[in-house]
Amino acid sequence: MARQWNVGVLGCGNIFDAYARLSAVFAPVKLVACADLNGEAAAAKAARYGLEALAPDALIAHPGIDAIINLTNPASHAATTAAILRAGKHAYGEKPLALTLADGDALVALADSRGLMLASAPDTFLGGAQQTARRLIDEGRLGTVKSGSAHFMNHGMERWHPNPHPYYQRGAGPVLDMGPYYVSALVNLLGPVRRVVALATTFFDERLVTADGPNRGSRVPVTTPTTSQALLEFRSGAQIHFSVSYDNWGHGHRNPIELHGTLGSLMVPDPNYFAGVAELHGDGEVQRFGSEGVAFGQDNWIEVKGTRIGNYRGAGVADMLDAAEHGRPPRASGRFARHVLEVLLAIIESAEVGRFVEIASTTDRPAPMTAEDAARLIAPDAPQTFAPDA
Ligand SMILES: NC(=O)c1ccc[n+]([C@@H]2O[C@H](COP(=O)([O-])OP(=O)(O)OC[C@H]3O[C@@H](n4cnc5c(N)ncnc54)[C@H](O)[C@@H]3O)[C@@H](O)[C@H]2O)c1
Repeated sequence: MARQWNVGVLGCGNIFDAYARLSAVFAPVKLVACADLNGEAAAAKAARYGLEALAPDALIAHPGIDAIINLTNPASHAATTAAILRAGKHAYGEKPLALTLADGDALVALADSRGLMLASAPDTFLGGAQQTARRLIDEGRLGTVKSGSAHFMNHGMERWHPNPHPYYQRGAGPVLDMGPYYVSALVNLLGPVRRVVALATTFFDERLVTADGPNRGSRVPVTTPTTSQALLEFRSGAQIHFSVSYDNWGHGHRNPIELHGTLGSLMVPDPNYFAGVAELHGDGEVQRFGSEGVAFGQDNWIEVKGTRIGNYRGAGVADMLDAAEHGRPPRASGRFARHVLEVLLAIIESAEVGRFVEIASTTDRPAPMTAEDAARLIAPDAPQTFAPDA
C-alpha cells in the first residue's frame, strides 16, 4: 500500500477542478485543504470538494499538511514555492517552475538544502502516449534522431479563459505557457539541449476578452512576443524546429511533434495530453502504437463537447510523493524543470539579441515510468472515467 500524504492546494482558479477531481486517481494523494488570495474562491472550492478553506499563510504553515500543489499564476510561482519549501513541505508547482533562472536555481537549492521534494508540471510526459514514444526511441527503432519539428499554434486564450491577462505579459506568452509541454516532452525523449536560436514577432498589440466572466469585453495589452520560431540543438546532436504561437487562426501540421532518425521517423502524440497514438515510419508498413494499454494512457476524461481525452493531471504529484517515500528523484523534478526553463528563456533571449544562446545546465532524462511504479501510484478504487464537469 502506498503511503497517503496530506496535500494542500494553493491557488483556486481555472485549473483547480482538474487537479481536485483527478486526485481520486492517485493513491499517495489526499487533498485536505486549499487557499487563495481570493478567500471566496478558496471557500467555493473547499465546499465543493470537502476541503478546509484557509488563508494562504495558514495553508503553508499548517502542521498537518505534508505537501502543497502550487496552482497560482506564474508570476507568483517562485515566491510561493519558496515559502512552501521554507515551511518544510514538499512542493509541486504548475508550469513554469519560475520566471527567471535565478529563481529556478534558488528553488532547486532550497529543496536540496531542506531535503525536500521539488517537482513541476507538466507531467504529461508521464502519460502512456509520451512513454510509448520514449520506449520506441530507447529501443533504437529510430536509430539516431537527427532532426524534427514541434508546433503549437492557436489564437490565444481570451476566447475561453476568464482571466487571460497574465498570459500576454512579459514572463508568460506562448513560449513560457505552452512551451513547457513541448520542451519537456523533447528533453524526456532526446535529453538535454545544448543551444538555441530564435526569432519572434507579435501580430496584435492588444487582445479583446470574449470569454464569459468578469473580464469579458476588456482589452489586454500584449507585452510579450506571441509568435516564436526556434531551432534547438540537443546535446545528442538532434536539431529540432520549434514554433509556438498565439496568433495563428489555424494550421495544417498533422503532428504536434515529429522526430526523424537514421532508421525511422516517429510521429509523437500531442504532449498536451496523456493519451495518443505514436506512428512509426520506416522501411516498411507504418506502425501505430496506441497508449490505451499503457499506464496513464486511457481516454478517461470526457470534455464538455463530448471529446474523450487522456487526463491524468497530478500524476507528477503522485510520482513526487512516491519518490519521497522511496528516496528516489521525482521524474518531473525541479532540476529537469529548471533545465526546461533555461531553454524557454533562451528562446525569448535569442530573439532579442539576435544570436545563439548556449544552455549552461544539463539534466538527466527522467527514468521511464515502469508498470510497477505506475501500479503503486494508482488508487485501487480509481475512477475509470470522468464525465464532463457540471
Ligand atoms: N487553466 C488551464 O487550463 C491551465 C492548464 C495547465 C496549466 N495551468 C497553469 O496553472 C496555473 C494556474 O492557472 P489558472 O488558469 O488556474 O489561473 P487562474 O488565474 O484561473 O487562477 C490562479 C489563482 O491563483 C491565485 N493566486 C495568485 N497568486 C496567489 C498567491 N500568491 N497566493 C495564493 N493564491 C494566489 C489567484 O487569486 C487565482 O485564483 C498557471 O501556472 C498555469 O500556467 C493552467
